Amino acid sequence: MIELKNVSKHFGGIKAVEDVSLNIREGSITGLIGPNGAGKTTLFILRTFQIAHEFENLTVRENLMMVPDGQIGESILHTWISRNRIKIQEKENHTKATKVMKFLNLDHLESEKAGSLSGGQKKLLELGRTMMVDAKIVLLDEVGAGVNKTLLKKIGESIKKLNKELGYTFFMIEHDIDFISSLCDPVIVMTDGSVLTQGTVNEIKNDDRVIEAYLGN
Ligand SMILES: Nc1ncnc2c1ncn2[C@@H]1O[C@H](COP(=O)(O)OP(=O)(O)O)[C@@H](O)[C@H]1O
Ligand SMILES: [Mg+2]
Repeated sequence: MIELKNVSKHFGGIKAVEDVSLNIREGSITGLIGPNGAGKTTLFILRTFQIAHEFENLTVRENLMMVPDGQIGESILHTWISRNRIKIQEKENHTKATKVMKFLNLDHLESEKAGSLSGGQKKLLELGRTMMVDAKIVLLDEVGAGVNKTLLKKIGESIKKLNKELGYTFFMIEHDIDFISSLCDPVIVMTDGSVLTQGTVNEIKNDDRVIEAYLGN
């Protein structure tokens, strides 16, 4: 689903990413791990399909409904000539947002302002926003950082469900090895801007070069 060939990114003299080639298989949940400074985030920056951040003062539902592009109601001209089409489109978005909230168990937070959500709930909302445009591939950079264990489990379950039921592909940078073990296959290991190895969690865990890379840092 994503193919990288000989990708490099330098910042001045720093070779943040150096000659990386890799494939993300469609339908996989591929993990990306490696010590701090390995170049993981930079690799993601190279190609972002990012949906802008949530608006703190809008509710969960509003944040979902505003994601789809090309809403005719956004054009002043159309508000004069296409009232019916605007209504139909809004109704579709409304229905879709309802489905997304159900899917992610966010329905009880429908009217909450995004700004009052916990870190983990915001991550769920972020997943919900990708669902509004049927993203199909989602890149997550440390989605588990600062999220409590209970919510992390919920996020993990949502990722699995999106993968199994809706065919989403995930490419995710993560530190929490339990979280990775429960989700990712394969796992790609980066060190010093390059791909060190790739394999199942068990293969990675028992690879001396991986252990050394972490200890060395
Ligand atoms: N915008 C930037 N300007 C200069 N150096 C950067 C920038 N972003 C990242 N780097 C450097 O590139 C290297 C890789 O960083 P990063 O991709 O953030 O690693 P990781 O996400 O694996 O911790 C580090 O040495 C970091 O200091
Ligand atoms: Mg990073």
